[in-house]
Amino acid sequence: MPDNIDNLLTETRRFAPDAEFTASAVADAGLYERARADRLGFWADQARGLVSWEKPFTEVLDWSNPPFAKWFADGTLNVAYNCLDRHVEAGRGDRVALHWEGEPGDSRSITYAELTAEVKKAANMLEGLGVRDGDRVVIYMPLIPEAIVAMLAVARVGAIHSVVFGGFSAESIRSRVDDAGAKVLITADGGWRKGVVSPLKPAVDEALDATVHGPSTVEKVVVVKRGGNDVAFTSGRDLWWDDLMQEQAAEHTAQAFEAEHPLFILYTSGTTGKPKGILHTSGGYLTGAAYTHRNVFDLHPETDVYWSTADIGWITGHTYVVYGPLANGATQVIYEGTPDSPVPGRWWDVIEKYGVTIFYAAPTAIRAAMKTGRQIPASRDLSSLRLLGSVGEPINPEAWVWYRDVIGAGATPIVDTWWQTETGSIMISALPGVTTLKPGSAQVPLPGVAVDVVDDHGVPVGDGEGGLLVITEPWPSMLRGIWGDTERFVDTYWSKFGRSVYFAGDGARKDDDGDIWLLGRVDDVMNVSGHRLSTAEIESALVSHPIVAEAAVVGAADETTGQSVVAFVILRASQADTMTPEEAAAALRNHVAHEIGAIAKPRTVMIVQELPKTRSGKIMRRLLRDVAEGREIGDTTTLADTTVMQAIRVG
Ligand code: PRX
Repeated sequence: MPDNIDNLLTETRRFAPDAEFTASAVADAGLYERARADRLGFWADQARGLVSWEKPFTEVLDWSNPPFAKWFADGTLNVAYNCLDRHVEAGRGDRVALHWEGEPGDSRSITYAELTAEVKKAANMLEGLGVRDGDRVVIYMPLIPEAIVAMLAVARVGAIHSVVFGGFSAESIRSRVDDAGAKVLITADGGWRKGVVSPLKPAVDEALDATVHGPSTVEKVVVVKRGGNDVAFTSGRDLWWDDLMQEQAAEHTAQAFEAEHPLFILYTSGTTGKPKGILHTSGGYLTGAAYTHRNVFDLHPETDVYWSTADIGWITGHTYVVYGPLANGATQVIYEGTPDSPVPGRWWDVIEKYGVTIFYAAPTAIRAAMKTGRQIPASRDLSSLRLLGSVGEPINPEAWVWYRDVIGAGATPIVDTWWQTETGSIMISALPGVTTLKPGSAQVPLPGVAVDVVDDHGVPVGDGEGGLLVITEPWPSMLRGIWGDTERFVDTYWSKFGRSVYFAGDGARKDDDGDIWLLGRVDDVMNVSGHRLSTAEIESALVSHPIVAEAAVVGAADETTGQSVVAFVILRASQADTMTPEEAAAALRNHVAHEIGAIAKPRTVMIVQELPKTRSGKIMRRLLRDVAEGREIGDTTTLADTTVMQAIRVG
C-alpha cells in the first residue's frame, strides 16, 4: 500500500450523498433494517425477487453442519436461463447485452435475444461433444463475446466451468486441467493485447502435450478464431468453434438443476504452492451476484451502460461481467485489450463511445492514469458517468479523490468494494445514495452480510482498533469448498476461530464510527495490481530452475501496483561462477513467467549468498521486505546468524 496506516486513519474528507442521486437510488437505508430484523427472510426475498426458480425453494439455509452450507436447497433453477431467456420472454430481447470493443477497434453489439440464441447453439455443441451435467470444461480465452457464450453454455447444460486467465502459462493450464479433470477445453487462436496478437492456442498445445506431461483428461479442444494467427491442429482432438456452431440446432431447452448444483471452479492463489480450486454453486451464488450488482452499482437496467474492466479469468469477471449484470438484464461494455492500446486513455475513449454510466476498475489502473496525467481523461467526454467502483486492493485516499475529481467530474459516488474469489460477491461496500463516503475505507458490510474485526483469540475489537477480518454468518454466494480438498477448505477458512466463522486472511481496522479499513493480507499471499499471487508458488517456480539452490519471495510496496514481487535467490555453487548475477536474474524472471504467467514475473531478482533464517530454519520475510522496500532493517535478534542481513544489504 502506498499510504501507511497512519495516513489512512487521519483521512478526514467526507462525501455525503447527493440528494438528486438519493432520490432515484435503487438502495435505501431501510435495507439495513430489514436485513437486521430477519436476515434469512431478507435473503429469501432477494432470492425470490431477483432469480427465477423452476421449482421455488421452501428452505432458506441449512447450516446444521458448518462450514458446509446449503442455501435454497430444495429449489431448482437454470443459471443461464436466468441470464438470458427470461429477459427475452419478458420482451427485453432487443436490449443490448454486450457492447464488445476489440482492441484494434473492431466492435459488436449483441442483444439479449442474440446472446440467448448463441448460447443455445453452444449448449447443443457441448452436449454433442459429450459434455454432461457435472463435467468440467476449462475456458482459456481472450475477452471476446464467445468467452461469455462459452461460460453460459457450460452453465446451461449443468456442467462446471473453470476459466483460466489468458495470461497464465501452459504449466498453469495443465495443473488446473488435471486438478479439475476437465473433459473439454475451449480456447482461441489468440487475442489482441498491446497492439499485437497474443497467441493462446500454443500454450494449450504445450499444456496437453502427452509426451511432456503424460495423457490428460481433455478429449476435445474447441478453438475460436479471433487473432487470425496460425495454429497447430491435433486431429481428432481439436475443432473449430465456428464449424461446430454452424451445425447446431437453434433450440435448446434449459433444464433446471438444484440450487446447490456446482456452477464453477475458479483457481486462486493460497499460502502454499498449489492454487485452490474455489467451488461456487448455483442458486446462492446467483442471488449474491444479482443482489450486490443491483444495489452496489445502483443499476437501472433500462438506462444504464455498465462497464467492469475485469477479465473473465478473475472472480470480478465472473460475478460482475457475466452473472450479476446478465441476471439483472443490464447493458454492458466489454473491452478486449489494455487501457493504453493503441493510445493512453483508450479506456476513456470507450466510456465516451458507449456513454458508460457505471464504471468499475482496480486502483492500480487509477494510479497508472494519475501518473500519465489528468489531461488525458480531461480531453474526453466522460459526462455520462454517474457512479464509479473500485476493487481488488485497498485504494489510497489520494487515488480515490483523483478518481472522483478527474474521472467522476467531482460529483460521482465511489464504491470501494471489498470481497474475494471465495466470497463470490461483494461483502463490504458503501451503498450509493445512502452512505456518506470516506476515501480509503470500504466502510460497511452490505445488508445481510455479517462482518467483524477480531483479535487473535476471535474477540471483536473495539472501534478505533485493528485485527483480523472475519465473516460471522454464512452468506448465499459463499464458496462451498475447495475442489477435491475438503480438509484444506476447513483448515484454511474455518478453523482459526471455529467452524462457523470465516477467516478472510485480511487485516483490517475499525475507525471511531465502526467503519472498516482494509490493511492488506496477513498471510503469504501478495496482491499485485489487484491480482492475487502466492509467495510459495513463485518460490517453487524459482527452485524448479536448475541454477537455483534456494529462493524466498516477498511482496514489496509499489506505488502503482500496490505490491510487486521481489525474489531473493541463492544460486547453486556449481552455477554461481558461470553466469553474472544480471544474467541469472534475467533468466529467472523469464522462467517464472513461463512457469506461472507474466503477471507473476518478479520485478527484481536479487542474487544473494544467504537468506535470513530463524534458529528453527524459518525464513524471516519481514527482514527481506525491509531490504526490498529500502528500509532500515528491523530487529534481527532472532536470526540464527545476525551477520546475514549485512551480507544481503551489501550484496
Ligand atoms: O486482500 C483483499 C484484496 O483482494 C483479496 C481477494 O483477492 P481475489 O480473490 O483475487 O479477489 C479480488 C477481487 C474481489 C482480498 O483478500 N481486496 C479485494 N478488494 C479489496 C481488497 N483489499 C482492499 N480493498 C478492497 N476493496
